[in-house]
Amino acid sequence: MAVRYDTPSLMRWNARAYDSSFGYVSAHGAPLIELLDPQPGERILDLGCGTGVLTADIAARGTTVLGMDGSAAMIEVALRHHPGLDFIVGDGANFRLLDTYDAVFSNAALHWMGRDPDAVIRCVRTALAPGGRFVAEMGGAGNCAALTSAMMTAWREHGLREPDLPWYFPTPAEYATRLEKCGFTVRLLEYFDRPTPLDECQNGAADWVRMFAGHLLDDVPAETVEPLLRRVNELAAPALRRESGWVADYVRLRFAAVRA
Ligand SMILES: C[S@@+](CC[C@H](N)C(=O)[O-])C[C@H]1O[C@@H](n2cnc3c(N)ncnc32)[C@H](O)[C@@H]1O
Repeated sequence: MAVRYDTPSLMRWNARAYDSSFGYVSAHGAPLIELLDPQPGERILDLGCGTGVLTADIAARGTTVLGMDGSAAMIEVALRHHPGLDFIVGDGANFRLLDTYDAVFSNAALHWMGRDPDAVIRCVRTALAPGGRFVAEMGGAGNCAALTSAMMTAWREHGLREPDLPWYFPTPAEYATRLEKCGFTVRLLEYFDRPTPLDECQNGAADWVRMFAGHLLDDVPAETVEPLLRRVNELAAPALRRESGWVADYVRLRFAAVRA
């Protein structure tokens, strides 16, 4: 087991709640692993690996995998749950590894790396051997539009400045252009709605905000947090609440590209 804390934790994540209530994120990664089609003996980097659920699935195909994540909390859980696999804390926009990889895989993580998407793609390219694959899924343009619009309105109604949302949800054309400019050939690019049941979120949109945008609540006066989140639920409910429960309005961008 190799642990190298190369960079300090970039983000604050509740890794335990992530696995217990938001396990759907990695559960939805199975088709992406099929697209990756990992072969025994290949070296694969899982970028933004979180708690390592998919990293372990890729390793089970007989590959050698390194999981990298910007959150030390996520990596600590990954190491505990998957002893024998290699994980590292690292920034997707600023890393250089000693080895080169046959493929870089990334599920539900690239949209968190929007500060400098080209830097991320450049780092991935450097990590790949010639002909290496970059296979990923991320939020695409319009992802969680009802959720984020409910947030904006609720913040405004409570007299708060609209929050700076931390995500980057590009259009297919935009991301394909970035990939091509950075030296990739795009082999497949899909852009699709994926309504996602929030089965474990009894508090619906409010639970989603706490998990994925919890840091935005740091600037909210303590006594305002609960009413604010209740209002997010009220505003989001008409679009996202069904008889069966809450369903988030996810839109995904999935691609497979090859290092030219
Ligand atoms: C929604 S989770 C997805 C985790 C995992 N891939 C899965 O499918 O369950 C997004 C992950 O991206 C990581 N992340 C965000 N920004 C990052 C960055 N700049 N560098 C590396 N990892 C980052 C987060 O720490 C988090 O673990």
